Amino acid sequence: MNYSQLVKPSIAGVPVYIPGKPIEVVARELGMEPSSLAKMASNENPLGSSPKGLRAAKAALAEAFMYPENSAFFLKAKLAAKLGVTPENLVVTAGSNEIIYLLGDLFLAPGVEVVMSKPCFITGKIVTLLNGAKPVEVPLKEDLSQDLDGLLAAITPATRLVYLPDPNNPTGTVISPEALDKFVASLPDHVVLVYDEAYREYRSDIPDSVKYVKQGKKVVAMRTFSKIYGLAGLRVGYAVCEPEMAALIDRVRPPFDVSVPALAAALAAADDTAWVKKCHKANAEGLAYLQKELSALGLKPVAGEANFLLVHFGPRAKEIFVQLEKKGFIIRPVANYGLPEHLRISVGTSAQNAGLVAAIAGIVGTSSR
Ligand SMILES: Cc1ncc(COP(=O)(O)O)c(C=O)c1O
Repeated sequence: MNYSQLVKPSIAGVPVYIPGKPIEVVARELGMEPSSLAKMASNENPLGSSPKGLRAAKAALAEAFMYPENSAFFLKAKLAAKLGVTPENLVVTAGSNEIIYLLGDLFLAPGVEVVMSKPCFITGKIVTLLNGAKPVEVPLKEDLSQDLDGLLAAITPATRLVYLPDPNNPTGTVISPEALDKFVASLPDHVVLVYDEAYREYRSDIPDSVKYVKQGKKVVAMRTFSKIYGLAGLRVGYAVCEPEMAALIDRVRPPFDVSVPALAAALAAADDTAWVKKCHKANAEGLAYLQKELSALGLKPVAGEANFLLVHFGPRAKEIFVQLEKKGFIIRPVANYGLPEHLRISVGTSAQNAGLVAAIAGIVGTSSR
């Protein structure tokens, strides 16, 4: 017997998470200098890390011989004060992705259903399938925004989780605070809303998800230090939820999952409001620039508000992706999300954005200008 026959039956057929191609891999594949490549594929912060966070992480390396403080006492205290909740409302994890896995451990098994959009960030589906539960996928609307009425209609007595990334990935579309209020108010009592707001800080009108927790709604808000704080490589995220839920999540959380430098970086970065402001502004400008310039090239960007942009390139999408790599720009194919004619572009620095637009113009031509 081979290993595949010995593992749990639910593992077969689970899609593998495909990350953006690292610079080193593309450089090796194409025989290019890593420094000549711009990675605009993984929704990372092109300006780097919060300087406060980075300084704290470096200083914390002196304590690398010790186990981390497993309860994240100081980070929870800081976040609780900022959010107006108690530390018992919080769970700190190694990236926000981990929260989805922990919720899977808690709630999912064969016979259980998870409602989500098709497509949405793939971890929701991966975790559902890993646990032998059933993803109930609701198609996006014509404009690629999420169909909230459709999601509500898909809930059955077997539903335990509704996974709702907002902004959604890979589309970047957002749900208005009013629409979200209505959605949360309509959820039945046997369902937990997993509200994934990894990109919240890039929005102009940010829903107050903590409000739902304070109202006693079954909402787990997932947040991360990976995106605007620029700490993706250190892996810190957190959940805001009711204390009973937080204690349950903590019960399945592996001990010491968040490292010493990661905890220190997040604690310092949480106060780096100047950094968040600067990155928000740079991203908004970069996003508007890409939307305008790519539209002028006759391409169709999807209306959204994140640090990335989904663009309809048409039947040549795959070929354009390959050509862009050769021109030094790594972006993201999204055929695995059922969008073979689209590509996803992470907003870069202004120089990267301008370079990418010029490279795309060189491939698709400027005749439509
Ligand atoms: C919607 C969404 N949620 C969560 C994550 C994962 O973030 P983290 O680095 O906090 O695990 C991502 C990363 O790309 C994402 O797009």
